Order: sequence, then structure tokens, then C-alpha cells
Amino acid sequence: MDTSRFPSFPSDFVWGVSTASYQIEGAVNEDGRGPSTWDAFVAEPGRIHNGDTGAIACDHYHRYPEDIALMQELGVDAYRFSFSWSRIQPTGKGAVNAVGLGFYDKLVDGLLEAGITPSPTLFHWDTPLALEETGGWLNRETAERFADYAQILGEHFADRIPRWITINEPVVVTMLGYGAGIHAPGLALGFDALPAAHHLLLAHGLGVQALRSAGASNIGIANNHALTWSASESEEDRAAAGLYENITNWLFADPILTGTYPEAVAPFLPPVPDSDLAIISTPIDWYGINSYNPTLVGAPTTGDAALMDGHALDAALPFSLREIQGYPRTDFDWPVVPEAFTQLLVSFKERYGESLPPLFITENGASYSDGPDDAGRVQDQRRITYTDAHLRALKAAMDAGVDVRGYFHWSLLDNFEWAAGYSQRFGLVHVDYQTQKRTPKDSYYWYQELIRSNLS
Ligand code: BGC
Repeated sequence: MDTSRFPSFPSDFVWGVSTASYQIEGAVNEDGRGPSTWDAFVAEPGRIHNGDTGAIACDHYHRYPEDIALMQELGVDAYRFSFSWSRIQPTGKGAVNAVGLGFYDKLVDGLLEAGITPSPTLFHWDTPLALEETGGWLNRETAERFADYAQILGEHFADRIPRWITINEPVVVTMLGYGAGIHAPGLALGFDALPAAHHLLLAHGLGVQALRSAGASNIGIANNHALTWSASESEEDRAAAGLYENITNWLFADPILTGTYPEAVAPFLPPVPDSDLAIISTPIDWYGINSYNPTLVGAPTTGDAALMDGHALDAALPFSLREIQGYPRTDFDWPVVPEAFTQLLVSFKERYGESLPPLFITENGASYSDGPDDAGRVQDQRRITYTDAHLRALKAAMDAGVDVRGYFHWSLLDNFEWAAGYSQRFGLVHVDYQTQKRTPKDSYYWYQELIRSNLS
């Protein structure tokens, strides 16, 4: 067992932190930003814990210089943020809103001055509302609008942004947004949501092509993956777990990395022309994995609702998620199973072999609600323990031959945690939402020392 104080990584390993526009920016009505599907969703009674919204969030739109300074002090090489599409194109198409784009100019220039590599995501779930009103991701045209938007960003930023991410977690947009009605746009279509998956993947491929044609390079995607365990060795449980794994993992990775959809999923998809698969599998430079915990899946049990990311899904689904027992849990009630992280990464290597490009961990982290004590210090030892264990698990995968080039911790700041509102805190930096005071937690100083220790 490695007992060194910090896990050790190659000297060129990229250390980063992640955020997303709607979760931190606030300023939803400023400088010509158009509404997104999340603005509409949070306004619907009962959708979000405590009725919270992202209207102010971390007020990053105004406080970005302070947040850049926090990152510079932290010592990260790279910052993964996301562009708000409706700041740049208020209705998701047509003319650019120069002031909205100008915000990202200031952010990108500030990062570069601070020696931090901007590593943006083009789409982290905040679909322009006008596009949602014409079908959103159920409408193939949204993928084409995304390509136009990618072209705009590529042309504007290719000379300043050296690493790009097309889309964040199409699986969550599809399943929670269109399948289960837990995220925006709040549709509960069950398996009829799957055309959204295809259109998001198509948008990814068209986005890669548009970015490249605009001169951008070093392009990947951030896909959510969880190791899937079968609840038992029974045939029923293994079949249910296999289907779940295909729908949540391989549906989103196979077409990108091999140009095919898993056979098990094909019956649920609309007819897909080969030309679409050729677009989706446009070569990428690296593949991003967001991962938090494994899932345990069995055959459906009567009256037992399936769960995804802790959310109840339709009980009529052909699988059910079971509680993983015997491990510590985060405050979001997610199990902490670092060895599953190693196994997940190794399973990618086994599945894709030589066609697997280098990996980045584009998200990993944990929700713990620790706040400042009387002395103003945030003692979040549990986040340190989680992160340390997951980094050692990541290193074990690298030692087993998986090529991983960097790690982006989720998240820099406590922020708007979607349906859970502000009830879940994932930040290395605590945010007091009344005063907007930022307080680096013990985990921030730990991550800072970890990065330093890996420089030598
Ligand atoms: C998402 C983030 C989210 C995090 C924690 C990921 O699924 O990309 O936006 O805050 O997980 O739930």
C-alpha cells in the first residue's frame, strides 16, 4: 500500500478544477443573456429543493477576478468552466450578443494572465429556452444549431484556448432531463427520451468538426460513467445490470469511440443512418470521464423505483438501482468506493484497447456540507479523504496501463447543485450565499499541497 503523504503523478499531469455556467454565474438577466431551459425549470413550483434558483448562484459573473485569484493561489494548471450558450446567442441561433461573449473574453484573458489554461465546455445543460421550445434535444436541428455555436466560439477563441470540451454528460440530460423529469426541461418520457441521446451525440460530433474547421484543437467530451455492479449472480439481475450499463455507459461511449451503438440499445433508438455515426465518431484528441461512484443494479422489484444519481426514476423500468451497502456515504448519500474508480478506468482500456484516446478525469468530487467553524475555518476532512482515495485509485489504473493525462476536481466553489439547489456543497472553496464570501476549505489547502508535491 502506498503510504506516502500525497499520491504521486507524472510531472506533466494536468491538475484542474471544474465548474459550470448556470451553477456559478448568476446574472441571468444581465447584458443581453437570453433565458435557458434551466431558468424556466427552476421557476416551476416544486422542481428544485427549497425553491432555489441559479439567478445569483456564486455571482461569478461579477466576482470572476476573485475566483481566478483563488485558482492561481491554489496552483491549478487548468480551469474547466462552461460557456452559457444563451449569453452568446440569446435564442440559441443567429447573431452574437457581443457583451455576453465579452464576459468570456475577460475570463479567458484573466485566466491566461494568471497562467491557468482555459479548458471550457461548450454545453453544460443550459439549453437556450428558444431552442427548447422547438423540441430541444428531441429535435435534430438543435444539433445543427450547436455546430453553428461551436463555430462561433472556435473562430473567436481558437488562438487563446488550447483545450476544448464539447458537451457535458449527455446521459444526464437525456435520462434526468427528458426521461425522468428531474432536470430541465422536466419531461418524463422514459425510453422515448433516447432520441435526445442521439442528437446530443450528433451535436458533439458536429461540434468537433466545427471547432476544428475554425482552427481549434485538443478537443474532447466530458461523459459521465459509473461502474455497474449486478445485484446478484442471478440471470435476471445480470441481464438488468447489463441493460443499464449499456444505456448509461456504452450508449454514450461506443458511438464516439467505435462508431457503433451497443446492440442492446438499438431497439430503443430511432433509425440511425451510418452517416450520423461517422459524424459522432469524428476522432477526438482525448476522452473525458466524470465519475463519482459505482451503481448496483438488479431486476425490477415491485414497487421499487429505480434510482439515478439518487433520483427516483419510473418504477416501470426494466431494472432497479439498489443501495450499495458497507461503504461510507457522502452527504448526497452517494457511496464512497474508490476501488470502483480503478475498475471503471481499467474497463475502458479493456473495452476499447488501442482505439481509446488518452483520458482526462473531467469531474470527480464529493458533497459534504461542512461550513466555517467559530474561527472561520472549514474542516472538511471527509472531502480530503474522498479525493485522496480517488486519486490513489486513479494512479492504480494508470499503473495498470490506462493513459490518464489530468484530473479536474468538481468543484472549485460550492454552487447550485441542480435539483438539489444549494443543499449540496461540492466546493474546495466554501461560499456563503448571503454575503458571497469565499472561504477556502481545508481540502483547498490539501489540494494546493498535493499539486506542489507533484511539481518536484
Ligand atoms: C455534473 C455537475 C454536478 C456534479 C455533481 C455532474 O453530474 O456535471 O454539474 O454538479 O455532477 O452532481
